[in-house]
Amino acid sequence: MLETDHFLDIDDITTDELQTILDRAAAIKSGEDDSRLPEQTLGMLFEKPSTRTRISFETGMTQLGGHAVFLGPDDIQLGHGEPISDTSRVLSRYVDVVMARLFSHDDLVEIADYADVPVVNGLTDDAHPCQTLADLLTIQEEFGGFDGVQAAWVGDGNNVGQSFVVGAAMAGLDLTVATPSDYGMDDDVVEQAADLGHEPTIVDSPEAAVEDADVVYTDVWISMGQESQRHEKLQAFEGYQVNETLLSETNAKVMHCLPAHRGEEISHDVLESDRALVWDQAENRLHAQKGLLVELLE
Ligand code: CP
Ligand code: NVA
Repeated sequence: MLETDHFLDIDDITTDELQTILDRAAAIKSGEDDSRLPEQTLGMLFEKPSTRTRISFETGMTQLGGHAVFLGPDDIQLGHGEPISDTSRVLSRYVDVVMARLFSHDDLVEIADYADVPVVNGLTDDAHPCQTLADLLTIQEEFGGFDGVQAAWVGDGNNVGQSFVVGAAMAGLDLTVATPSDYGMDDDVVEQAADLGHEPTIVDSPEAAVEDADVVYTDVWISMGQESQRHEKLQAFEGYQVNETLLSETNAKVMHCLPAHRGEEISHDVLESDRALVWDQAENRLHAQKGLLVELLE
């Protein structure tokens, strides 16, 4: 049972609760924990496309003995003028938990404000905390824990990166961050990590970020909704590709939340190499979210 009503970003839970969810996810994955959520229904609101988030939540609810309802932008009245506040109150009368993937984080907060059931962030422009749970579960599996693990973030400082910075600080990871100057993390994200005792080291080149890294994490350069910025972002991210040249002096593993754009933020060779933890990360979305749902709803 978590203290928080909602999971809108990774710091809605405490550091202890984070470890509890990760341990529970690992136990669910190994079959040791056979928790169930029978007859519970998850409403899944999507303003943006998704492969992993949609399938892992839907499959997870089925495996827990519950049910998930997919609500895309053209399926419900939200996309046709019904206000968020009304949608949230009505959904709360039917489902036991809501997961929403939205553009605006403020809209997600509004859904949570009006909901009588837990609301989970399935990605906004600012945060992707379910991804962070899966990322930390993957690191815990690969390195046996977080102590002494040196991680590097190379790339855009938006949703996936921001939640990872705070989650990494909560887990006690050492993190070095390299982003182009106009695409850094929000100051309050870096301050939050510092307040947790693990301020990331911000460096000005991908080479400096990966120097001592055990694991290097990147995300797409053109996020969903940023298609019109493609030209300027490709210029700004020149030199930030995670490829064998960048990693040549390291044995670092590589993480990516997926979908990957081979030839942009990551090379085909690295993604297909033994360095890549990306398929475990994708699988761990399922286990981590089952752990989260059980802890939220039990
Ligand atoms: N990583 C992730 O959230 O993937 P989807 O966009 O496919 O859900
Ligand atoms: N930063 C990416 C993450 C996709 C899971 C996006 O927002 O499109």
